[in-house]
Amino acid sequence: MNAAILGIETSCDDTAVGIVADGVVLANRVASQIPLHARFGGVVPEVAARNHLLSILPAIEAALADAHLTPRDLGGIAVTHQPGLIGALLVGVQTARTLALCWNVPLVGVDHIQAHVWAAKLRWPGDAAVPLQVPFLALAVSGGHTSLYRVMGPGQMTLLGRTLDDAAGEAFDKFARLLGVPYPGGPNVDALAQSGDPTRFVLPRGMRGRSDLAMSFSGLKTAARLHMEALQAQGPLDETTVRDLCASFQQAVVAQLVHVTQRAAIQEGLQDVVLAGGVAANQGLRAGLAQMCAAQGLRFWPVPLAWCGDNGAMVAGLGAALLAAGQADDPHELDAVPTGLVKKRAG
Ligand code: KG4
Ligand code: ZN
Repeated sequence: MNAAILGIETSCDDTAVGIVADGVVLANRVASQIPLHARFGGVVPEVAARNHLLSILPAIEAALADAHLTPRDLGGIAVTHQPGLIGALLVGVQTARTLALCWNVPLVGVDHIQAHVWAAKLRWPGDAAVPLQVPFLALAVSGGHTSLYRVMGPGQMTLLGRTLDDAAGEAFDKFARLLGVPYPGGPNVDALAQSGDPTRFVLPRGMRGRSDLAMSFSGLKTAARLHMEALQAQGPLDETTVRDLCASFQQAVVAQLVHVTQRAAIQEGLQDVVLAGGVAANQGLRAGLAQMCAAQGLRFWPVPLAWCGDNGAMVAGLGAALLAAGQADDPHELDAVPTGLVKKRAG
């Protein structure tokens, strides 16, 4: 077995640390900050950064204890260095750089979205290796991104199409906020949608007329708001109406994502479809894509629920593959890059 890799993720509001060896997740600690941000209805960057500082070292110690390892057993450290909130990223990056120097192990910076996608290769101890092969199609859906990629290898992805406005997770969260559903909106809307009627409200399905792989969710959000306001003008919404609105909204998001993913798979001639990112936990989306893939004869690889939301195991998993390919970074130089648009390495 190759030496275990420690993965650190602090790009947004979760302080997460994972340990992975040969794709096997040995530890996955997530110190959630949800209660701290819930009263603001969203993530406050400065609050996130300050709490990462408090949580990061205890999370690393706890992950090492869970895996029954000491720093001497580690073969490297991986850290999310892009994209994300700058103050939040900096806590992870500075911690990883310092520990890599102190423990004398290699360091690699990873891209958050690439790590989400590569999490499709992770497995639990005792499970067989995941037989997913490149190239594959990946739909990455999170709070900040909604994109389709052709994936050729660890960290090698070509963008095929993306949302022109809101990310799917952002749309869920904004819709939830309008409806008075508590933060974090996505999982709560998903839960309410389970028992709602998705046919009660007719909502737009995005960019149906286009031939490219662009997506859009802002029109859907506006249409949902107009329905909501018309109903609210008649009095407070009853529980059934809230559930039906959630189910109708979720179905419209899912219909668009499934439609564009199907087109991408056919256009690219790819047989394997990975679903990754926080919104990959959505039950409606998992079911919709599973159904489409079965109908089209495609293989479907949803990231297991445990590794959909932000986590350290996905960072360790991609980091291990990059380190194995000889792509270490200089611990004196690795930068945090909030936009993720800047290429990590020149040349
Ligand atoms: O990947 P992630 O944990 O953080 C980012 O990188 O953004 O994704 C968080 C997003 C949030 O918008 C959250 O509401 C959404 O994922 N989300 C969901 C579900 N679980 C998380 N959206 C819909 N249904 C869910 N079950
Ligand atoms: Zn994420």
